[in-house]
Amino acid sequence: MINTIDDSKTVPVKLRPTVASRIPLAPSTLVIFGITGDLARKKLLPAVYQLFERGLLPPTFSLLGFGRQEPVQVLGIIRKAMEAGAGDGFQESVWNQIAERFRYVRGTFDDLSSFETLRDELACTADPGGSNFAFYMSISPDHFAQVCMQLKAVGLHRDDTGWRRVVVEKPFGNDLSTSRALGDTVSSVFGPESVYRVDHYLGKETVQNILALRFANGLFEPLWNHHHIDHVQITMAEEIGVTGRAGYYDGVGATRDVIQNHLLQILALIAMEEPVTLSAEQMSTEKVKVLSAAHAIGPFSETTSRGQYTATTRNGTYFPGLAEEDGFDGSSTTETFAALTVQIANRRWAGVPFFIRAGKRLGRQYTEIAVTFRATHRLHGTGDNAPPQNTLVVRVQPDAGISLRIGAKVPGSGMEIQNVDLNMSYAESFQRASPEAYERLILDVLRGDASLFPTQEEIEASWAVVDPVITHWATSTSRPDLYESGSTGPASADAVLSRSGRAWRP
Ligand code: BG6
Repeated sequence: MINTIDDSKTVPVKLRPTVASRIPLAPSTLVIFGITGDLARKKLLPAVYQLFERGLLPPTFSLLGFGRQEPVQVLGIIRKAMEAGAGDGFQESVWNQIAERFRYVRGTFDDLSSFETLRDELACTADPGGSNFAFYMSISPDHFAQVCMQLKAVGLHRDDTGWRRVVVEKPFGNDLSTSRALGDTVSSVFGPESVYRVDHYLGKETVQNILALRFANGLFEPLWNHHHIDHVQITMAEEIGVTGRAGYYDGVGATRDVIQNHLLQILALIAMEEPVTLSAEQMSTEKVKVLSAAHAIGPFSETTSRGQYTATTRNGTYFPGLAEEDGFDGSSTTETFAALTVQIANRRWAGVPFFIRAGKRLGRQYTEIAVTFRATHRLHGTGDNAPPQNTLVVRVQPDAGISLRIGAKVPGSGMEIQNVDLNMSYAESFQRASPEAYERLILDVLRGDASLFPTQEEIEASWAVVDPVITHWATSTSRPDLYESGSTGPASADAVLSRSGRAWRP
């Protein structure tokens, strides 16, 4: 009998896109609270410029800023932010269009009359076909609830003639209970379906590609489980320190700043089951399932690590330690480095550790996910060297791409095996720039596509993963371990893996 290949079994399932990506943009106004703040200047305004330039905003789109600055200064600040984002590509004609559609309300969050002025300004922009407003909270989370209540007080929170959406930035609370309280307030004002919680990592092309890698290819899914995967490492390493950010960062630390959100969202995408569709509801269903099954395993004195950077001089440049940064002193126990071990209690991942680490002032700036497969039987005659452990690496940034580490015969040797990488690079394969995360996310808010925004349930499930570790550290008598700026983190982070005979990727 001749064996035939049954193609129907080998062709991967086509991912079904959400319909929202085809929804045309309705006339709308983006209201940015904190329009001259750090986030707005560095990310939101450059993104709005790009969307304008690429003609992706509806013809009647308008931008409204709310803040404390003198009106005469604001237009200049916005222009500077957009110029900085666009670089050589900045076009006077695009700027003129933006300036024409820009309005500003000067006010403070505790003053109801500023919100009445805002309402009157918005009444002037409203399109005859309906009034659609997105309120972007580019402000300290301490003010989210207050601004929501003021919008409600002046009747801007709901309307029958158009949509209202509210966009909130992380951190969503400080722990599970404060996040729940904040979520309840914001949802009760706008309605749960109108709240967009930004995790800008989900706007990154390389993070979105995790689903394509896993489910649009037939190759990986059969191996994507505890039978074949030894462990997963998720690393977010930054060269920058916390200079100038003490007001936000002190008391927050690496775990709340990036692990509870960015890195646990990545973990969810790596570990979740295939969603039925890519709609916001189906995506969240699967992410909530996997995050609810995830927990940080202990004993935390062995499975976690926290650190603080110390001063160093490299190539003649002095980098201060945390204790010398403005706003900090030697008494802060805020961690600038954290490593945790997470396990997922389900059939697919039983016993597979997910090692997660994030740190500031490390030697190299990169974010990557490394999936290491179990070591295989050693090929006869390959000598004493260890058999290769195949590793699939997703380089989120920089040098975005994917590589697969395999063992190959060293040319000219008897049968000596050496690790080599098969490499895919976005820059080479797609020869066009990826849109910035905030461009995609702002557009999705205006479209009403919430599939790249974590739901309240996801956020609460993520707090439940990190809360026990944060509490353990908060109640511990020890201080964070010190690590030198420019290093790979504290020695205690290496011990988290070496106890089980593993090591972080260099
Ligand atoms: C933010 C954190 O969410 O992400 C910052 O608050 C961090 O501390 C930043 O530096 C990193 O973002 P990106 O896109 O540069 O990796």
